[in-house]
Amino acid sequence: PSGLLADTRGRPLRDLRISVTDRCNFRCVYCMPKDVFDKDYQFLPHSELLSFEEIERIVRIAIEHGVEKIRLTGGEPLLRKNIERLVEMLAKLTTRDGQPLDLTLTTNASLLARKAQSLKDAGLTRVSVSLDALDDAVFKRMNDVDFSVHDVLAGIETAQRVGLAPLKVNMVVQKGVNDDQIVPLAGHFKGTGIILRFIEFMDVGASNGWNMASVVPSAEVIQRIDAAFPLDSLQPNYLGETAERWRYRDGSGEIGVISSVTQAFCHDCTRARLSTEGKLYLCLFATQGYDLRALLRDGRSDLEISNALAAIWRQRSDRYSELRADPETQAARAARKIEMSYIGG
Ligand code: GTP
Ligand code: 5AD
Ligand code: SF4
Ligand code: SF4
Repeated sequence: PSGLLADTRGRPLRDLRISVTDRCNFRCVYCMPKDVFDKDYQFLPHSELLSFEEIERIVRIAIEHGVEKIRLTGGEPLLRKNIERLVEMLAKLTTRDGQPLDLTLTTNASLLARKAQSLKDAGLTRVSVSLDALDDAVFKRMNDVDFSVHDVLAGIETAQRVGLAPLKVNMVVQKGVNDDQIVPLAGHFKGTGIILRFIEFMDVGASNGWNMASVVPSAEVIQRIDAAFPLDSLQPNYLGETAERWRYRDGSGEIGVISSVTQAFCHDCTRARLSTEGKLYLCLFATQGYDLRALLRDGRSDLEISNALAAIWRQRSDRYSELRADPETQAARAARKIEMSYIGG
């Protein structure tokens, strides 16, 4: 296809976020709480997952429609066996303009110290690490599997040393749970070249007990940091960036805030998500996906799949975060909420 693909709101398709496994070795209370994701929880059997060849084929077709950035997510993507091989396959692909893809991954860092070098060698561009606290007790309470801050920091250091840059750290802020960690985390990463980003706690999935009172608005996050380390605002890096950027006035780096709740950024959302079993979702909050795996396993040609993908994107109208407060939106979604570990963050 030569024309630019746009959805009903004129938004192009630029990013594909691919969940490579629905499993995780953490049980973050806001994502995979233990009472839901217990020993009886049925994760997907291997045959249901997209194979690396299937993922590569979808990415190749998505690139023809304008995709330039690929993010591997999960669950915990480094738990997928031989993930380096997938990275290597995807790193060989280029954008429509012949540029390298922005090929990245979101990880809890538990396996990062071990895998950073091989991921870099396979062609990964950079990584984003989730870390919700600097205090060990707070962090362990949040990941609920007794994983220590020290080990996450070791993973981050290794990733930085092998050149997976720029490295970003994501903190999900929950009022009364870890909001006292905002300033300590900022202080820790200030001057390291690592970009710390604060994410407003979102109402994804059905099991994290979200309510508005547990959200710390980004404006407040900025105020608190600014009081300790003065900040100036920065322009976005690219259209549709999730984070609003700020820099330390003393020149020691930048931070970001991702304000999906208080300042929705749907108007130029260019992201599609591919679930672990190959369903395409047009929004993080979508209640249904489009089964691309069925097309792949049904022997369809690249052209047929390409046309199907284009048709799906053209009729897209999703903008959940902008409509969150609307009772009709809530009612429509109440019935079928999709967990983040399945659809990918
Ligand atoms: P960069 O490519 O480094 O700019 O990262 P990114 O912000 O696109 O991706 P990342 O995985 O680091 O996103 C951080 C967090 O932002 C995610 O974990 C989500 O919580 C949130 N987020 C990302 N994309 C979306 C989106 O399309 N909608 C909403 N509501 N939240 C999103
Ligand atoms: N709200 C905001 N961010 C979330 N994440 C997981 N669940 C939520 C939620 N309810 C984040 C993780 C990680 C990424 C995969 O998504 O902390 O950074
Ligand atoms: Fe695992 Fe990330 Fe979810 Fe935590 S937020 S349970 S590390 S997928
Ligand atoms: Fe995009 Fe949906 Fe997130 Fe809005 S809520 S930014 S449409 S993924």
